[in-house]
Amino acid sequence: MYLDKRVNSATVLTGLIGNPLGHTVSPQLHNSLFKRMGINGIYLPLQVEKDKLGDAVKGLSSLGFAGFNVTIPYKVAVLDYVDEASEAVKLLGTANTVKIKDGRLYAYNTDADGFADSFRMQAGTDFKSKDVCIIGAGGTTRAIAIKIAMEGARRISIINRTEIKAEELASYINEIIQNTDKKTDIAYGYSSCSEIAAERLKQCSVIVNTTSVGMYPNNDFSPLSDEFSFDKDQIVYDVIYKPGKTKLLKRAEDGGCRTINGAGMLFYQGVRAFEIFMDTKIPCEISENLSKAFFKFIGV
Ligand code: ATR
Repeated sequence: MYLDKRVNSATVLTGLIGNPLGHTVSPQLHNSLFKRMGINGIYLPLQVEKDKLGDAVKGLSSLGFAGFNVTIPYKVAVLDYVDEASEAVKLLGTANTVKIKDGRLYAYNTDADGFADSFRMQAGTDFKSKDVCIIGAGGTTRAIAIKIAMEGARRISIINRTEIKAEELASYINEIIQNTDKKTDIAYGYSSCSEIAAERLKQCSVIVNTTSVGMYPNNDFSPLSDEFSFDKDQIVYDVIYKPGKTKLLKRAEDGGCRTINGAGMLFYQGVRAFEIFMDTKIPCEISENLSKAFFKFIGV
């Protein structure tokens, strides 16, 4: 009879809190990282009821968890229970990673880093001096746009169904930029139906879709009209990973563009969170190898 010796009193405890957690693939990712890194650790899905968030967080701390990830609907609410927040968390107002050290809780947000890492790995370039269009103006755009701005983009056009949200977000990005050594505005907000948005989309070098338009089961939809013609030098990134090839990406590919789906962002935000939990750096060979198995697992 086989005796399972994988978990013992020395096992590092980590997990994910959220609700619902039915479709999460984080346990497969993190447990594979523990295995590939040769660390005695475990990552558990921990579904938490709405009025139990505080109890759950205190419980994880009392039980000696090294840290945990946070997903919908607790990315904002969890901040009520942490001791310190990273700069990214302060700018974004949301956290997806909490590290517990000596009884203190430190909040991080690795979503934007995950996006930038995946872009760098898959596009082979970064956002320095780039002219970028982002479709959408919600929480995901906020995280991504700040990161792109910090990486030195020349211009960020935020294009959204609701114009006011695009304009407000653009002002916020410019405010942040004013606090760095760059003094000029780089972000602009436009309505999706405006001519100027169409113009910006045609001229930019990177297009990022952060809306859910085209996500399974609405595979036949795209945030850009069928008349839109891509320039082959454009890089088109869709944060959706189901389907792996959205209508937007299919059309961009037909237009000769380099295309990237959201699976890499999902993967690298997890890699970054793991590095924070374990105070370690995952070697590129391990992350690149594992990413292939992960993408296959999630079907992209
Ligand atoms: P997230 O945190 O994932 O970014 P969100 O904050 O709800 O989610 O933002 C969703 C974004 O997708 C919004 O910019 C939304 O546009 P509105 O501001 O006009 O609501 C955009 N979006 C969602 N569904 C859309 C649709 N069918 N067509 C166009 N934009 C859509």
